[in-house]
Amino acid sequence: MQQYMVLYKRSIEDPSGFWSEIAEQFHWQTKWEPNHMRYNFDVRNGPISVEWFRGATTNISYNCLDRHVAAGRGDDVCFIWEGNDVGREKVMTYGEALEEVCRLANWLRGAGVRKGDAVAIYMPMLLELPLAMLACARIGAVHSVVFGGFSAEALAGRMEDCKAKVLLTASGVMRGPKHIELKRIADTALDLCAKAGHAVESVLVYENDNAVPAADCPFTPGRDRWWQSEVSVQPPSCAVEWVEAEHPLFLLYTSGSTGKPKGVLHTTGGYMVYGATTMRHVFGLQRGDVYWCTADCGWITGHTYLAYGPLLNGATQVVFEGVPTHPTPARCWEVVASHRVTHFYTAPTAIRSLMGFGNQWVEQCDTSSLRLLGSVGEPINPEAWRWYHEIVGGGRCPIVDTWWQTETGGHMITPLPKAWPEKPGSATLPFFGVRPVVLDDKGNELEGEAEGVLAIAQPWPSTLRTVYGDHARYESNYFGPFPGYYFTGDGCRRDADGYYWITGRVDDVINVSGHRIGTAEVESALVAHPACAEAAVVGYDHPIKGQGIYAYVTLMTGVEPTQALRKELVGAVRSTIGAFAAPDVIHWAPGLPKTRSGKIMRRVLRKIASKEEDQLGDVSTLADPGVVQTLVELRGK
Ligand code: WT7
Repeated sequence: MQQYMVLYKRSIEDPSGFWSEIAEQFHWQTKWEPNHMRYNFDVRNGPISVEWFRGATTNISYNCLDRHVAAGRGDDVCFIWEGNDVGREKVMTYGEALEEVCRLANWLRGAGVRKGDAVAIYMPMLLELPLAMLACARIGAVHSVVFGGFSAEALAGRMEDCKAKVLLTASGVMRGPKHIELKRIADTALDLCAKAGHAVESVLVYENDNAVPAADCPFTPGRDRWWQSEVSVQPPSCAVEWVEAEHPLFLLYTSGSTGKPKGVLHTTGGYMVYGATTMRHVFGLQRGDVYWCTADCGWITGHTYLAYGPLLNGATQVVFEGVPTHPTPARCWEVVASHRVTHFYTAPTAIRSLMGFGNQWVEQCDTSSLRLLGSVGEPINPEAWRWYHEIVGGGRCPIVDTWWQTETGGHMITPLPKAWPEKPGSATLPFFGVRPVVLDDKGNELEGEAEGVLAIAQPWPSTLRTVYGDHARYESNYFGPFPGYYFTGDGCRRDADGYYWITGRVDDVINVSGHRIGTAEVESALVAHPACAEAAVVGYDHPIKGQGIYAYVTLMTGVEPTQALRKELVGAVRSTIGAFAAPDVIHWAPGLPKTRSGKIMRRVLRKIASKEEDQLGDVSTLADPGVVQTLVELRGK
């Protein structure tokens, strides 16, 4: 703790110097200037900008792979892949991973991809997914991974926004017992994208034959190529593209409270140094450890703590294609036992779901290899924390409850194992270089014990640099609400020990199973249905998912509310966004509670959804207070 305090103080007071020393461990083709960090975090002083390692050039893919191979660690195991079906496994060393990445990078170059071009990736959790990310980074291309659970429309929107030159995808995937024809969805997306004016030039298709063999996979000659036959004939070495520290590394789209998803842009140098450093300290990884993060590469966790962080640290990691409950709820613990996993990182929703199946599934497996457990994505409730600690971790493993965001690129508030006492439900203290503040709603910093909104007062190396193609939105969304600060969108309490307790989003974003869903996106998917006149979406407490999606729908005059229509509306959201965004509840609403100026009072809707209409608070501004009673009567109908 003492040591942390000293280092923490230095990291805040001398960020350039602090991170320079750490950055020395990486390979840089050219070094940075003194005082390499420049920034403006205050909209009143001009455009927001963040720059780290000014003057330096490097390559993150080189640092993930070549650096270890050059140090004689080419035979160390990089990946242990566990397929969806028990028994499908694959092991890949650092040396092999480097060759695979080079082959794919050569293919990409051959397809005309150059430094700065965007490549969309829509893949299941095969090793080819992280390898594809590293291949893009190797040639300075900007990857944009789209989670395989997103719909064709969502994929199209993302490919169009970043003007993807190439799409990397797969024929299909098995998720648990479910069969998903990814390429068929990708084809619909490619058509939509072309209709919107952007034609993706080439598509590389991995034949995932246990799910969809080539013969059953739609294929457009000329545009589409088969991955296995094209990539295997490429040379196994490929010159690295040295890029500036601020060269864009990737885009990752995430939902906000308004409008379409934002393309969060991360750059190379700062992201690399911060991701690797949090990985090392927060997980305390050592040589010989086996780390397993259950996140999909379609989310930020799968970027920083699967594709990049572990490799930057030369670690051995498990990559899992399946789902925790397939074929039984023992699956995770069987994987832990068979690969002697030491570090396990997952989301509270998975913990709650597995907890619900009972202890026997854990107890029948040998989980004695576990030394550290991690949690990410949403606040972890103390009951799930204790189960994770006692039953999974046998009471001996520290739990790191890591608070961070797509935008922050890496852990921001998190315990360091055994450095200070944990408190179930608190992410505890800030990581080096992170200066959190609790603000009141006027933007004043609150001291000591306090509750308010969480903001960050100065840049950390993996701060998002912009919203792709819309710097104005970046400024207004993150730096507009409280001038001088990065606004997180989360509420938070700081206790007497200085520990932070995240209380959840304060904006119109719902956190469903650790996935961020904008209410506005769900609403617009609903109102696109011809029967729907108006929709208002709120979150409500859900025992497994953390939050569920609760949609109030006003139908067009004359349309009957039926069970079939309910299904259709849910289907509309599935096909516009993805299955994970499907509303849990559709509540028929002849009218919505609005102010006289027409603004929907979501606070009232949240109370009705959670059966707390006795605590509505002040509703004197409602244009028609009678609406509340009508809605309460229609609940569950
Ligand atoms: C939002 C960010 C960070 C990777 C996964 C989600 C919530 C995340 C925690 C935590 C409480 C958490 C916040 C945050 N969140 N981790 N440990 N405790 N809340 O990334 O999709 O960008 O969502 O997830 O509300 O703002 P994301």
